[in-house]
Amino acid sequence: MDQRISITDLKAKKKRGEKVVMMTCYDYPSARLLEAAGVDILFIGDTLGMVVLGYDTTVPVTMEEMLHHTKAVVRGSSRAHVLADMPFMSYQTSPEDALRNAGRLLKEGGAQSVKLEGGVRVAETVRFIVDAGIPVMGHIGLTPQSINQLGGYKVQGKTPAAAVRLINDALALELAGAYAVVLECVPAPLAQTISDRLAIPTIGIGAGPHCDGQVQVFHDLLGLFDDFVPKHAKRYAELGSEIREAVRAYAGEVRSGRFPTEKESFGADKPVFSEAARIA
Ligand code: KIV
Repeated sequence: MDQRISITDLKAKKKRGEKVVMMTCYDYPSARLLEAAGVDILFIGDTLGMVVLGYDTTVPVTMEEMLHHTKAVVRGSSRAHVLADMPFMSYQTSPEDALRNAGRLLKEGGAQSVKLEGGVRVAETVRFIVDAGIPVMGHIGLTPQSINQLGGYKVQGKTPAAAVRLINDALALELAGAYAVVLECVPAPLAQTISDRLAIPTIGIGAGPHCDGQVQVFHDLLGLFDDFVPKHAKRYAELGSEIREAVRAYAGEVRSGRFPTEKESFGADKPVFSEAARIA
């Protein structure tokens, strides 16, 4: 059996100065493609709610939805590290609830680690989960589950006081035993300071080039949507228009009778069917 990338491997990358490549992944076919392309961490983010399930925010995502998609990603991969997001209200109510739900993502989902949002305020919960043997990735800066409190998807840590709070959040997560921390929408110089201060890897999204790794959302990177492109996302392909064109071509050929041809059809000896038609 192949050995999956472990949190020890991921931490060692920082020591060697190698970048960690993480990408969101929500299903079996994408897991196969991303693993073949050499992605280190396949991340079932709760952005699942927005880019796959069509919710307005990540707030409605449930544990059952996370489990369903985590299992599919695990089935589609054998080498990559599989990280599952803890959805809103699966860890905020108590450390015990958090541990129970983190455990489900490993036991039922098959993930190797979990991620949750928050710094100082969730440090005790992180410690509780880590002490039970479950690796945790932290997530600070823009934390989309708190969108109703943040009042919008904005860059965080822009004032000296806010920057100090973020540095303290990162240090609290490291002290609590987190193996890595996502920095989302944080000014690049602040992300650099945090990355220098921590021994564990920082994974940036909209946090500049000095983080120890990067994470991007599958649909942003591959150009699946036209209506919204975050500033931090670079589109490496335009799969949305490719898919539309391919399906238009298919529909056109079905309507005109050009598909299927003999090549896509199954033949047999004509006499067999003349006989069948005679008997029926
Ligand atoms: O759910 C998600 O996709 C995330 C990334 C934006 C880091 O948390």
